[in-house]
Amino acid sequence: MAIVSREASFQLTVKEVSVSFGGIKAIQDVSLGVRPGQIYSIIGPNGAGKTTLFNCISGIYHADHGSILFDGVELIGMKPHKITQLGIGRAFQNIELFKGMTVLDNLMSARSFHMSYGLLRAAFYLGSCMAQEAQNRDLVEDVIEFLDLQHVRKTPVMSLSYGMQKRVELARALAMEPKILLVDEPVSGMNLEEREDMARYLIDINEEKGVTVVLIEHDMGLVMDLSETVTVLNFGMKIAEGTPGEISENPEVIKAYLGEVHT
Ligand SMILES: Nc1ncnc2c1ncn2[C@@H]1O[C@H](COP(=O)(O)OP(=O)(O)OP(=O)(O)O)[C@@H](O)[C@H]1O
Ligand SMILES: [Mg+2]
Repeated sequence: MAIVSREASFQLTVKEVSVSFGGIKAIQDVSLGVRPGQIYSIIGPNGAGKTTLFNCISGIYHADHGSILFDGVELIGMKPHKITQLGIGRAFQNIELFKGMTVLDNLMSARSFHMSYGLLRAAFYLGSCMAQEAQNRDLVEDVIEFLDLQHVRKTPVMSLSYGMQKRVELARALAMEPKILLVDEPVSGMNLEEREDMARYLIDINEEKGVTVVLIEHDMGLVMDLSETVTVLNFGMKIAEGTPGEISENPEVIKAYLGEVHT
């Protein structure tokens, strides 16, 4: 009888990952497993190491120790664009858009990660390159429609409200056709209506497009509503993992957030 390990059921496995900056241990021995199709949240106070963990998964930082597997492939040591091509998309905490460019051009430039041709190939196989360009445009138009961005498609990003820029940042990540989407504080700085819209979009991306979502967020309402599993980091260490209900009653988690234990 074949033995199926627990790890085999994970799409993303983080195993004992540690990162230091000088003397500061930003992350220490963090492990977690995300199953395909989940909405999985990572929470914790400011400076807990949440974004650093995303930076390790995306290849922006190199872990000092540990392993990060995506569909069984080791990501540590891989270049960020390779990791993107494997199917890991990222919406950044600090919006990473070309502010002077339109929404449409930002999304088209995100697609350039997926272009398989170089200049030489473009010179000899113009037809296939043009077909790929058309495919990219179709995909971008689909993302624009999915996230209700039609009315701003020709607007420079810098002219948009902050909340709308966050939505375009999500669109940029989605335009890379991720299998798994890392979303870092998607509702920070948003008003209530924008938060509700963003929650809806994340659910739709997960349910309709079948994309696994890993969410970092300080908005506990959003985390509790959306997540199947929550991991809590504090001072770079994982202090808890469980369902939203389990996490909200965990004394160590309450202490990390409030500085006291409610009995
Ligand atoms: N490039 C870097 N150089 C030096 N220190 C860093 C670097 N990146 C992160 N750190 C440090 O690592 C720790 C974790 O930072 P990180 O940004 O991951 O926290 P966070 O949990 O995302 O916080 P927040 O909720 O405020 O976004 C902090 O002490 C931070 O100063
Ligand atoms: Mg952060």
